[in-house]
Formats: sequence, C-alpha cells, structure tokens
Amino acid sequence: MAKASVSKLMKNSEPFKTTGNPAPIAATQIFLIIVIAALAVARASAAAAPRERLLMDFGWRFHLGDAPDAGTRFNYPEVNNLLKTEPDQVGREPETAVAPDLGGDISFVQPGFDDHNWRQLDLPHDWAVELPFDPKGEYEHSSKPIGTSGESEHDARKAGSGFPENSIGWYRRRFELPAADKGKTLWIEFDGVYRNSLVWLNGHCLGRHPSGYTSFRYDISRFANFGGNNELVVRADAWRFEGWFYEGAGIYRHVWLVKTSPVHVAPDGIFVSSRFPDNIPVGSAEVRIQTRLADARDSSAAVTLTQEIVDANGKPIARRVQKANATSAGQEVPETLTVRAPELWSPESPNLYRLITTVESDGQTVDRVETEFGIRTVAFDPDKGFLLNGKPYLIKGTCNHQDHAGVGTALPDALQYFRVKKLKEMGCNAYRTSHNAPTPELLEACDRLGMLVMDENRRVDTNSTTLADLGSLVLRDRNHPSVFIWSLGNEEPISGTDQGRDIAIVMQGLVHRLDPTRACTAAMVHGWGKGFSKVLDVQGFNYGLKSIMAYHQQHPTQPEIGTETGSTYVDRGRYADDKQQGYVNGYGENHPGWGARPWESWGFYATHPFASGSFVWTGFDYRGEPKPYKWPSISSHFGPLDTCGFPKDIYYYYQSWWTDEPVLHLAPHWTWPGREGQTNLVRVFSNCQQVELFLNGKSLGKQTMKPDWYLDWNVVYEPGVLSAKGYAGGKPVMETRVETTGAPAAIQLSPDRSAINADGRDLSIFNVSVVDAQGRVVPVADNLIQFKINGPGKIIGVGNGDPSSVEPDKADQRSVFNGLAQVIVQSDLQPGVIQLTAISPGLREATSKIHSGPDALAQTLIP
Ligand code: GAL
Repeated sequence: MAKASVSKLMKNSEPFKTTGNPAPIAATQIFLIIVIAALAVARASAAAAPRERLLMDFGWRFHLGDAPDAGTRFNYPEVNNLLKTEPDQVGREPETAVAPDLGGDISFVQPGFDDHNWRQLDLPHDWAVELPFDPKGEYEHSSKPIGTSGESEHDARKAGSGFPENSIGWYRRRFELPAADKGKTLWIEFDGVYRNSLVWLNGHCLGRHPSGYTSFRYDISRFANFGGNNELVVRADAWRFEGWFYEGAGIYRHVWLVKTSPVHVAPDGIFVSSRFPDNIPVGSAEVRIQTRLADARDSSAAVTLTQEIVDANGKPIARRVQKANATSAGQEVPETLTVRAPELWSPESPNLYRLITTVESDGQTVDRVETEFGIRTVAFDPDKGFLLNGKPYLIKGTCNHQDHAGVGTALPDALQYFRVKKLKEMGCNAYRTSHNAPTPELLEACDRLGMLVMDENRRVDTNSTTLADLGSLVLRDRNHPSVFIWSLGNEEPISGTDQGRDIAIVMQGLVHRLDPTRACTAAMVHGWGKGFSKVLDVQGFNYGLKSIMAYHQQHPTQPEIGTETGSTYVDRGRYADDKQQGYVNGYGENHPGWGARPWESWGFYATHPFASGSFVWTGFDYRGEPKPYKWPSISSHFGPLDTCGFPKDIYYYYQSWWTDEPVLHLAPHWTWPGREGQTNLVRVFSNCQQVELFLNGKSLGKQTMKPDWYLDWNVVYEPGVLSAKGYAGGKPVMETRVETTGAPAAIQLSPDRSAINADGRDLSIFNVSVVDAQGRVVPVADNLIQFKINGPGKIIGVGNGDPSSVEPDKADQRSVFNGLAQVIVQSDLQPGVIQLTAISPGLREATSKIHSGPDALAQTLIP
C-alpha cells in the first residue's frame, strides 16, 4: 500500500504526491491515468529543471505511542527549564545535543518494516488536537492528555504519571528516487516538527532536532537509494513543553525534498536587501545580493552567476552576470543591481519583486533559485518612532500563537492567508510571531497580503543549540520584506540582569552579522534600563504603560516599541462573567493585573508616536492559557477575534481606530427574553464624531466620541430594535441596528471562497449561522449541527470559538456558540463540485457548493 509515486512535478512548490487514501475503483482508475500522464511530464521537466523542490506532505503512515522495543533508550536527560532560561542554567545546552542512541535496531526504523496497520495521513498533522479534552491534562496547554500533568518530565517518567501513551508519535513515508538522481545533492527539509524529532532514512539516523519551532534539513545524498525505494522515519517526542500555551504535536508543518546539482546555491544561501542614499526611498534602489555558492564534491567549480530582477508581471528590470567560484566550504559572492523608481513594499501596497539566480557550470545551467523580495526602508527614530519608507508608521499590531479552530497547529497554507486577511480587516498592520519561529508560509502570506512582522525567537541563551536556532531563523527569514524587526525573546527572568546584558550582546551581535539591515528588540516586562536594555537597538515594552514615558525621557537616544499590550479578557456574545462555565463579558473591562482595557493601551500608543505603536495580546484566541479560568475553559479569552476568526465586540474598537472606514458597532445583542425592564449597558464602538442611540425608534440621546475611545448608554431593555446613527460634520453618515430575534429556524452556510484548487491542500472555510425565520443570526443559539460532505473534498476540522467547548475538533458535527460555528473543508486531488450540507433537528437545512479545480488558488487567494 501507499507506494510512493510522483504525480506532479513542476516549478517550485509543486506537490510531490503519493496515492493517498483508498479511492473508489472508478476514481482510482482516473487518478492513475492522471498520475501516469503527470509522470511523463515530470520526467520531461526533470531533465530541464536544475533544482526541484517537492512537497512531501502526502502519503504518510502514523503511529501514536513509542516503538514497543524503544524502552527508555530515547529518554534524553532533562536539563533545563525549556520555557524560560533560569539564571543558574545560562550557557548550558537545554537538552543533550547528541542522541545517545541512534536507534538503528529499533523495529519502527527498519527498512521494510510492515507499517500497513499504521494510520494513513497527509501533512500537516497535529496529533494533540485529535486527542479528547481531559481535565487531567495541563490547562495551560489546553487540557489535552499529552506530556506531563504538572510535574517535570523526569518525575513523570519515573512515577509513570503524565500521558506516555500520547506523547510520542512515529511517522513513516516511502518514496522512490529515479536512478538519474544519483550524483545530485538531496535534502529533506522540515519546516517544523513538535518536538525533539529524530529522523532516519533507510535505517540511518540523520539527526535530532530538539526545537519544535525552527526549521531544519538533512543532506540525504549519501543515504538515499537511487533507482529504488526509500523509507523516511520520524519520531516526534512531545513530552516536554517549550511554551506555556498549546503547542501541538507531530509534523505540523510541511516537509520538502530538494534536489540540486552538486554545484548549487547553498540552503538559505541568498540574502537580498535594498538601500537608498540616507535611507530615504527616493530615486533608484540599490539591491544588494549575497549568494553563497557551494560545491558538494569537495572541490571548487568555476561558475557563471546571473542575477536578474523581474517585477510583479515577470518583466526583467535589472540583470548582472559575473564569474565566480563555488567551493566546498561555500563561497559568498556579492552583487549589486539598481532598480529605478521601484514600487515600494508596504502593508498598504505589498509590491513584490523576484530575484532569479542562475548558476552555470561547464556551459550548463546547474542551479536556478527564485527569491521573492520587496524594496522598502525600515528604521527607528527615538522621537518619531518606527519609520517605514522614510515616514512615521504607527504599528497597529497583534501578537499571535499559531493554532486555529479545527486544526490545532497544523494549518494548511490557505488558513494562513485567511488569518492574515482577518487581521487586516480589523486594521491590523503588524504581526508578532509570539513566542517562536513562524512557519515560512505565514511570512509568505504577510509579504503578499501586506502585514509587517516582528519575527520572534523562542529561547534566550548563549549555548550552541539556542544560537543555532536563532541563526537559522535569521538566515531563513531575512529576505521577507514583511519582517521589519527581530525579537530576541519574551519576558525572560534574566533580561534585567548583567547576565542578561551579556547574553543580549552575543545574540544581537549574531543577528546583526547575519542581517545588518534590521534592528533587534526583546519583549521585556521588567528590568527596563538594565540588562538587555543596555544593548538592544529598540527597547521593547510588554505592558508597563506607566514606565514608557519615564524610560523615554531617561533614554532619549534609544527608540521604543510596544511589544505586548492589552491582554483584555473578552468572549464573543457574552455580557456577564460566568466563573463556573468559564466565560468573561465582552465589553472589554477585564484584564489581568499587568494588562489594560483596549482604550487604555491603544489610547496611549495612538498619542505617543515615539513608542512606535504596539502589539495587542492577542489577535486571535488560542488554545491553552485560559486565564482567568481553568477547566472547562480550554482556550484563551484575549483575542478581538475568537479561535475561528469571528469578531468579538472589541474587534470593532480596534477597527474604529485602526482603519479609515466608518465603523459603528453596538454591544450587546438585543435578544434578552426575561430581562424586560432591567437595565443593559450598551457600548458603542465607532469612529464617527457623534453617535445617537435609539430604542424602537425613540432617541436615547446623542453623544460626542472622544478619539480612541467608546460611548456608553444605560438602556432599559424592551424587545425590538436598538439602533444607532453615526454623524460626521454634523451629518448622519451611517446607521446600524441590533434586533430582538425569534427562535432558531434555519441554518446558513457561507464559504469564504467559492473556488479552490483541487490540489489536496487548498481549502474553503464555511461559516455556519443559526438564524430565525427572518434570517437574523440568533445570538443565543447553541444548536448542534451535523455536516455532510459530497464531492471531492473532506472536513478537516470544526470549531465555534467557544473557549469552554470540549467538543472534538475532528468531527462532522458542532454546536454553534452564540449562533456561529465553522467548518474547514479541504479539496481532494480530483476536481469537481464540493457540496456541504448542514442539518439540525427543527431547523431548515442549508446546502452550499464550491468548485474545486485547477489554479483557483492563484486566482482567488494569492494576489
Ligand atoms: C504575557 C506573556 C504572554 C501571555 C500573556 C497573558 O506576559 O508574554 O505569553 O502569557 O502575558 O496575559
């Protein structure tokens, strides 16, 4: 079963697929024809393509639990706290760096091991999200029965507590390599595995990678079978947590196979950056390119290196050819091109260029690499704050973890685009990848859709593992125009100490060497002025609103940025706190001691531009950290968007002051049976100059809006229509209303995209609403909805944004939470019409169709 066969092989980023799940006979036959036809294409183009980058996401086998003969052999000694670096641990490797045992004799590793009973799946895959919620699991990590349950890994293993059966996962994948690949250089690249992975190819241990967040690769040229079958085996060990939030488990990002000629551009070997005289983007941009050329044959090759820049339409605009050498150690080759009157990159106009690097040796093209980049300037000024393209640019940012409803941390690429778009709709222009290296596809979405990124490193230390992780992050991400600053880490205990200062010197120094074009900050929550502060290019403030002004006055030459603000507790559609069930009211009044109401934190940053703006904690809710509650609360309450991306009321606060669009939003909803005669707090989020509120057509008065603020009315509840008029310059400019709805009567389905790619990866996100007889969303509905899918697609997850829902994510049913739920539908490889039907007793069912076909992704998703 699951014998690998290449179905498609084209330019960069095309899928490398195997026969997937068993399909009905007719479909299998059609599919085989496609596979054979595609193989012919593949062979033809393989000869011409000097470099191939093939997606290996399809056709894996998975086993939950350790190999029966593994015993304790892979139990690495627990050395450090992985969450934060304790003062007495500085400099020590966080875990033993070398595998004490290569596991060559372990059954699961053996070539030919019979894995036909293992589950068949495609990547990305997060096995933690598939586990049931369990009050015995750590609530900080979303109450999943994985890892330890409070004690250290060492103690858990010793006492036999924790969840050993769910903490280790094994993956196997077979693939064939043509005999013609012999002599090429081949890498297997992992965008990210949670965590502590060991990888074997054909029984050889390729290595161990402890971080669950950084990308890594292995050169497999010496271990591969050319002209035959290959077996790739991965063991992921999710016993230990690296953070204090939900982190997922398994191969939750892409895996790639890269093939090049032995003379090639080294991995992450291109660095492209642009400069203008005095850093002012007028006239021509000087595009500096550094290329690392390698010769894997332990020799040196004379090559011709061509660098060509093409614009967004593929039109060549600059080109240079030079002679160079590729060496076994890797040779850095500088080049400079000029781009006249470039189209600058910004979140508002994400203009991109492509650099095409071609390497010729002995009259043959031996390598060709495309690098997407943008031309823009970034700088910090202690008084003006952050400058983008020479002008002050206020950061309206959000911090985010990486999980989404239904899929945990295993986000297909289209979901990254969905999330970035949702944030942009709120007016967010910057994303902090708290507190870890992001997946490269998130950065791609930010480059293309227009979103600045604070790219954050996970651990703070000077040991070799930590510095290698930091270095690999910078090398991998430094070509992304969206990345405007590096963050060395978050809220480290040592950040305000002399030890912290010495560590920051080393870490910032490393970043500057690898990327002299960007500044570094660190997210500090105490100790400002000491330790890290003595070193950082830009001082980061997590919270600490009261300290920023004083700091600025005492350090007039050091710029500042609000790395983290807010932490406001809010739930969608809830207007009273409920400690028992774990809900917080949505008005925006609650926050932990260190946090603030949205208007307090944004009110400060909006009026103190020297501080560059800030990143709200968080844009989206995430699993785990369900403060201020524990079980049954399983996800956080901080986001203006919930785990599905449904807006909460404070979303409109941010949208009011972060966009130029007129906004007028009323909270709460107006369906309160039994509350007649009682007073409701009505809060209006708007950027209109004045707002007038009406209940059933009767004016309740007009109030004037303070900038960056909101308006309140106390309104005695009577059913009907609560409405508002917004005024600008004394004239009404917009109206909005909330109505008392009837009982739930029908379901509505709305897909975010009606045409997707039939590539087995793309997806459409269906929002599900329960409406009354007049089609109005019932804001208190909690009906359980069943989903049926027809056609070439599958449901990969469901959610509803309820922070206390312990319903499974992997299901074909879900209750709506305050009227709304979400179903994520992924395409198969076959094109066709995918039809989703939603049914629930007593409600009119809904059906919605989308088309899955070739090239829809390019047309409808990526600009
Ligand atoms: C911050 C921390 C975040 C999150 C947040 C909750 O101090 O950096 O990771 O825990 O608090 O308010």
